[in-house]
Amino acid sequence: MADTDIKKGLAGVVADVTAISKVNPDTNSLLYRGYPVQELAATQPFDAVAYLLWHGELPTDEQLAAQRAEGRQYRALAPEVKTAIDQLPLDCHPMDELRTAVSAIGAIDLAGKGSVLDAVGTVEENRARSLHLFAALPSIVAYGQRRRQHLEPIAPREELDYSSNFLWMTFGEEPDPVVVDAFNRSMILYAEHSFNASTFTARVITSTLSDLYSAVVGAIGALKGPLHGGANEAVLHIFDEIGSADNVVPWLDDALASKRKIMGFGHRVYKRGDSRVPTMKAALDTLIDFYDRPDVLDLYSTLEAEFVGRKGIYPNLDYPSGPAYNLMGFDTLTFTPLFVAARITGWTAHILEQQASNALIRPLSAYDGPDERHINGYRPDT
Ligand code: ACO
Repeated sequence: MADTDIKKGLAGVVADVTAISKVNPDTNSLLYRGYPVQELAATQPFDAVAYLLWHGELPTDEQLAAQRAEGRQYRALAPEVKTAIDQLPLDCHPMDELRTAVSAIGAIDLAGKGSVLDAVGTVEENRARSLHLFAALPSIVAYGQRRRQHLEPIAPREELDYSSNFLWMTFGEEPDPVVVDAFNRSMILYAEHSFNASTFTARVITSTLSDLYSAVVGAIGALKGPLHGGANEAVLHIFDEIGSADNVVPWLDDALASKRKIMGFGHRVYKRGDSRVPTMKAALDTLIDFYDRPDVLDLYSTLEAEFVGRKGIYPNLDYPSGPAYNLMGFDTLTFTPLFVAARITGWTAHILEQQASNALIRPLSAYDGPDERHINGYRPDT
């Protein structure tokens, strides 16, 4: 195989078709089932967008009410899942905690299904499993943050919408509508992004006819990496290192001299800016006003202007979402789990799509190891 045939990192490879989302870097647009993500973020609750991703259409009031009624039964964590989390070290990364909790939910749900063939599930079973994880993940994330802070867990509240309940379970206070709105927008923006690394991981696992929970556990592992979802956490580490806007220039001089990647900038697909950033930046601006933190805007804008000016590499969604989650009060290690709570919708929509039109995903490789050789003295029997 000629070297030119090799697409390192699968860059530029179109691996399959999808009807779930369309990323267009030329027009800087992102559509979920045809709707611009900005419009969805401005008008929809996150669970209606989840419905859209799973079913292809926005829900009617009745459909959304039915989904909410079904989802509420999954909000409270099963005792076995809490036990699985409680047995982990307090200082383990919350992405590891989340991965373990989802694995436990899967093991409990699939218990009694004797054979690997029986675990695959029908479309309806897998829709229910998707809703189960969607509803349970906020409880896992909130439980984890409070556990790390040595605080008692807070039970979900049936009457609260998705975002208000998430914030309630994490902080134990009725959230302000400004914060709920910014949080809801961030969830919608993070929900789906075609064949990104974690979604593709979920599709690869699904393509072997493995079960939905296994695919999600694999996707969580892929998202943890700082080149992907881990970047929102890493942005805050950078902000903490820099400290204030007047330190941006010397900090960036050092970082670029030592060839560091600046987290929250750059994208494999978008080369002229990430379509989701303006909406998330507007949400960050409302939070900066709400919490009266002009210093955050100063640092954010100064680093962006300096880095874009020097490298021509633009911010991605993780750049505004990191400081936004920080202002809301989430601890830094919780940022990537928030991404999981949002992206579970896109992952599971892709798992359903992959199952509906499956082909085992199995690319080829070009070999560049040693030529054929033999063990000294070995003689074949025949
Ligand atoms: N900081 C410094 N240099 C960068 C950055 C960055 N954030 N991003 C790209 N570059 C440079 C690379 O060093 C490389 O330079 P070179 O050609 O001189 O070696 C060039 O730009 C191309 O970069 P690649 O990493 O090869 O491009 P790729 O398309 O593979 O990278 C990626 C995309 C991995 C996201 C990259 O931009 C990156 O590492 N960014 C930081 C991590 C990050 O923010 N990830 C979040 C992704 S979006 C999301 O998950 C919501």
